[in-house]
Amino acid sequence: MSEKIKAPRGTFDVLPEQQGVRRRIAETARALLEGAGYGRLDTPVFEETELFARGVGESTEVVQKQMFSFSDQGGRELTLRPEGTASACRAYIEHGMQKRPQPVKLWYEGPFFRHERPQAGRYRQFHQIGAEAIGSDSPLVDAELIVLAWDLVTELGVEGVRLGLGSLGSPAARAAYLDELRTHMRSREGELSAEVRERIELNPLRAFDSADEGTRAVMADAPRLLDRLDAADAEHFEQVRALLDRAGVPYEVDATMVRGLDYYTRTVFELHCDRLGAQSQVGGGGRYDGLIEQLGGPPTPANGWALGIDRLALALGEPEEPPRVEVFIVAEPDARERALTLAIELRRAGISADLDLAERSHKGQMKQADRSGAARAVLLGEGAARVRDMSSGETAEVDLGGLVDRLREAPAGGGEGA
Ligand code: HAM
Repeated sequence: MSEKIKAPRGTFDVLPEQQGVRRRIAETARALLEGAGYGRLDTPVFEETELFARGVGESTEVVQKQMFSFSDQGGRELTLRPEGTASACRAYIEHGMQKRPQPVKLWYEGPFFRHERPQAGRYRQFHQIGAEAIGSDSPLVDAELIVLAWDLVTELGVEGVRLGLGSLGSPAARAAYLDELRTHMRSREGELSAEVRERIELNPLRAFDSADEGTRAVMADAPRLLDRLDAADAEHFEQVRALLDRAGVPYEVDATMVRGLDYYTRTVFELHCDRLGAQSQVGGGGRYDGLIEQLGGPPTPANGWALGIDRLALALGEPEEPPRVEVFIVAEPDARERALTLAIELRRAGISADLDLAERSHKGQMKQADRSGAARAVLLGEGAARVRDMSSGETAEVDLGGLVDRLREAPAGGGEGA
């Protein structure tokens, strides 16, 4: 036998019985977002590498280490999208959406790709639902988006979710703050872990997440970005907080929140679920007021978030369930072709139906009818049919000609015998 081929490391198949929870997540998100005026945007799963290098940021781990990049037959440098915000901005610019009423509100759903070390909740192909509102710097937008993310996880029934909220201010305030932070860290360099010491220049903020005891002591005394915001940014943050309070959304201010992507300005937030292990972040987002301009568009403030569908599904932990039909047709050997005709008629009439396609015995077909979850079975014999209520076991003789109408009259779960 030839060697078996497996799905690539960090990827997985979603089997039919695993689709239910994902469908519910996607459908709940669609209804919520479209009900708030967000329109669906689909973009290609690969883009020019330059888009992410410029959009996500050259110094981020995503761009430095995690991109699936390749050149195509025409020598173009392409990358499987590691996130959706850069693509949404590219589409906004490419389609001249600045001429539409602002903000333009978009949502998306689909697979994303990052070459990370796989573990529970962290994959190389994962799935996100995202929302972006491009073209307004009003704190109303920040609040609308955060409330939508909160309401989505609440409506889905995800338990143990915490919302962390912060503000990164403007790039200028952040740069001045980073200098101050570096000076503080250098003044106590000896107490820092070697790893943190090496990253003082590149990414000092990461030190706030360190588990090293010495580093933690240094960082506990470090200045906080939230205390260094300029007046306009601090006021913006206050307004976002007041709007969230008004909407009854609980949050914790996180003065040292570090997001993994470079484009954020002002408001940032993350949703963490304490039912998940190390990969507890079910969603995150924030403002990215400089990104559209960085990608060649006009100066345009924007804001958005993405939630991980795989992590939401893990957190919900719903039991697997095979697909179900309303009616299962069990046929005697001489009625097999008629069974297929009947299934086709039922489906065309809007009644979901399935049948044996492997010429099983009567007993085998009954077992299949049971497994199909159908509320009713049609037992098809020569010139005659009986309808069996699968829960009560009650059976009634039915005239063949009126079968479809009869089944239409009493939909699954309702009426007859029940
Ligand atoms: P992100 O925080 O990188 O943000 O990803 C958002 C969510 O995607 C995470 O909270 C997590 O649930 C999920 N996720 C990320 N990487 C993985 C992975 N390797 N395996 C499984 N799930 C994963 C963004 O992507 C931004 N584009 C969000 C945004 C939109 N900001 C503004 N607008």
